[in-house]
Amino acid sequence: LILTQDQLKKIAAYKAVEFVESGMVLGLGTGSTAKHAIDRIGHLLSQGKLTNIIGIPTSTKTHEQASSLNIPLSDLDTHPVLDLAIDGADEVDPDMNLVKGRGGSLLREKMIEGCCKKFIVIVDETKLVDYVGGSGLALPVEVVPFCWKFTAKKLECMFEEAGCVAKLRVCCENGEAYVTDNGNYVVDLFLKKCIGDLRAAGDKMMRVVGVVEHGMFVDMATTLIVAGEFGVTVRNK
Ligand code: A5P
Repeated sequence: LILTQDQLKKIAAYKAVEFVESGMVLGLGTGSTAKHAIDRIGHLLSQGKLTNIIGIPTSTKTHEQASSLNIPLSDLDTHPVLDLAIDGADEVDPDMNLVKGRGGSLLREKMIEGCCKKFIVIVDETKLVDYVGGSGLALPVEVVPFCWKFTAKKLECMFEEAGCVAKLRVCCENGEAYVTDNGNYVVDLFLKKCIGDLRAAGDKMMRVVGVVEHGMFVDMATTLIVAGEFGVTVRNK
């Protein structure tokens, strides 16, 4: 039996929802993996198997999905401490550091997931990498639209030794700049080598004034659920 990547995402998502208890304030992630978890939470609520859940959505898209499922929603202003967040990731390194934001929601995800007592990351096994950037895919950085080329150049120069190429994210439908929920742009960094100390690299990026937030989630995940051909594993940090 060969499972599709989407079936694996669903297995990881459903496993994570086993950790949800009635009365919890929950961070609701964004993306195709988190979507399965939110569907499941909505289903359990509708069946009365979960009660008194409050969801804090990490994007407008997740907000729409969760409200269509009648999941009661709130925000960080009202609920600054969350019991649990469940979200996918684009890359997970051996220390459970993450790359997030290929779906464009990194800022809200980082704000919300940084306030959770427990943060469960759900992935299929293709997301596991040896080091951040190791998939050869993008490390997303949210930037202000004002003089984005200037900001992109600064980021590219910063990681010159890692062979960094910075590209503005564009919408495939019309070729125009992709705009985040916060009205910003995303510059995707493509790295050829490991950037070394992730915390130092992140701090350096945040010192570029046009940078709003970067997609490395260092030391934030508390639990990792991986679904693969040979089953599902749960690892705690
Ligand atoms: C959204 O901005 C991202 O951080 C997603 O959580 C991440 O891209 C994982 O998405 P998938 O579950 O769709 O792979």
